[in-house]
Amino acid sequence: MTSTPRDQSGEPNPLHALTLDELRRRTSMKWRTHPADVLPLWVAEMDVPLARPVVRAVTEAMELGDTGYPFGTAYAEALAAFAGKRWGWDDLAVERTAIVPDVMLGVVEMLRLVTDPGDPVIVNPPVYPPFYAFVAHMDRRVVEAPLDPGLRIDLGVLEETFRRAVAGGGRAAYLLCSPHNPTGTVHTAEELAAVAALAERHGVRVVADEIHAPVVTAPDARFVPYLSVPGAERGLALMSASKGWNLAGLKAALALAGPGAAADLARMPEEVGHGPSHIGVLAHTAA
Ligand SMILES: Cc1ncc(COP(=O)(O)O)c(C=O)c1O
Repeated sequence: MTSTPRDQSGEPNPLHALTLDELRRRTSMKWRTHPADVLPLWVAEMDVPLARPVVRAVTEAMELGDTGYPFGTAYAEALAAFAGKRWGWDDLAVERTAIVPDVMLGVVEMLRLVTDPGDPVIVNPPVYPPFYAFVAHMDRRVVEAPLDPGLRIDLGVLEETFRRAVAGGGRAAYLLCSPHNPTGTVHTAEELAAVAALAERHGVRVVADEIHAPVVTAPDARFVPYLSVPGAERGLALMSASKGWNLAGLKAALALAGPGAAADLARMPEEVGHGPSHIGVLAHTAA
């Protein structure tokens, strides 16, 4: 008889809960893009069962026919509680949040608020490739400020890039990936405060994609929310339970504004908030 594999804490390892045959019954992008004999390891869909509270929330909604339009701030309130507990961030202001369909569409909407067509959007390669496609598709210019050889943000390169980006007179934004994908680099509070200072000095607006924040559990790395660092008051951020709880198919994410960006977020068109699904919001809230 084989015993259930356990993780370091002695809990059953969720990566062993589903068999390969069960996983191959999934019909999502990961499992259907390549032929059936390929073991797909290319996209961030998790090979684990869903967390029970998520299954319960979605099942209850189905049984109740609670399948209308999303309403209210429950997702933001849940995130605020999570942020306090997990990251010691007690200042997440629910009134400065908005639901968006997912993180990438949220990024696009935040960039739309703080830049105009043709304006530069700075990224740190190597970085999540869709940053390029989404920015190009919204008629902004991708400008690269590569990470340093240690795969950390190169503050010298970033400052020079900021300086050149605003030299033309337009507006500029910095699309910060925090934690960084694909390197896994978790930016420190000092690095983020330095980024905020540079952005303020050069008039560059920061949009932080923090989708991987909940998956940082390494004892030697602590995720720091960008909006929690001094000087980041004019920043915007995107958070979501989609990576941490495998909810990409249950569309929802949250846009967050610092106090100095509240007026920008308030300009987000109402229809953007109609994109997330009510079931997605319920699932993310439960997560
Ligand atoms: C850095 C980063 N941002 C955004 C996304 C996509 O998120 P969403 O599906 O919420 O748009 C991913 C997906 O892996 C990602 O790695």
